Amino acid sequence: MNEAKYIWMDGKLIDWKDAKVHILTHTVHYGNAVFEGTRAYQTEDGLAIFRLNEHCKRLYNSAKIVAIKPNMEYDVVKEAHLEVLRSNDFTENVYMRPIIFLGYGQMGVHHVKAPVQTAVAAWEWGAYLGEDELEKGIKVCTSSITRNPNRSTFGKAKAAANYLNSQMAKYEAIENGFEEALMLDENGFAAEGTGECLFIVRDGVLISPPNDNSLESITQATVLELAKEAGIPIERRNITRDEIYICDEAFFTGTAAEVTPINSLDHRVVGNGARGPMTEHLQSAYFDVVFGRNPKYKHYLTYI
Ligand SMILES: Cc1ncc(COP(=O)(O)O)c(C=O)c1O
Repeated sequence: MNEAKYIWMDGKLIDWKDAKVHILTHTVHYGNAVFEGTRAYQTEDGLAIFRLNEHCKRLYNSAKIVAIKPNMEYDVVKEAHLEVLRSNDFTENVYMRPIIFLGYGQMGVHHVKAPVQTAVAAWEWGAYLGEDELEKGIKVCTSSITRNPNRSTFGKAKAAANYLNSQMAKYEAIENGFEEALMLDENGFAAEGTGECLFIVRDGVLISPPNDNSLESITQATVLELAKEAGIPIERRNITRDEIYICDEAFFTGTAAEVTPINSLDHRVVGNGARGPMTEHLQSAYFDVVFGRNPKYKHYLTYI
């Protein structure tokens, strides 16, 4: 990975190599931690974090959901994002990983006495699913793994433990020769990718499932806002896998994945087998926003 110089931990910047934890760190054993994936882009006016407020809000909401009492004030952690970017000499676009986790000092499943720690790391990271794939799209399979069910996990939390499911689905997809997995919910409707939300286009209508079985995605919300502004008709409703086989366009959205076209699902070519026109329009509008080229959305950027 692209190492940087400093990581922020519990109130101070420390050398990247010193940002370590004990082997009996509670989170390592029982999986309770909450984190964010946030991006900062090199704009004309310097590095700027995209939708920092929304990411910080989701981080603290996630902590509330999984009953972790943060050890650091909200504003301090928000500011830490800026400190991390200012102290490292980034020349490329950056991915940021704030995490609130349970540290060393208490073992056993009951977690409330475990000490809470907070860190914010950042490193240079390009397109998550590939630069070329932003144009040619990715090959997706329907996963044999059901998306974490609402009866047993908390899907509105971006919690570490939720990602075992995503990790297994991603592993299966890659081993089977695909680039990403689409997980279905317990009723067989499309839920989300392993780190992305789904969109399809049918007859000029942009369709995305409700967030009942997905993370409340910040990228999805941004794309929906851009689509609304462009006068594109929008539907939020359930989608079945066979509807994706016959749709005109499909794409994934996520902070890491940005707007990535899906060129096939389960070996059925989707639309023209590459990036469709509406996907291209929304992708380019999204990049204009995150790179600060659209003045209307400057309020989504926090310049360092
Ligand atoms: C499981 C899952 N769904 C959806 C998303 C997309 O969310 P966002 O657009 O806020 O990054 C992510 C990424 O954070 C994710 O991990």
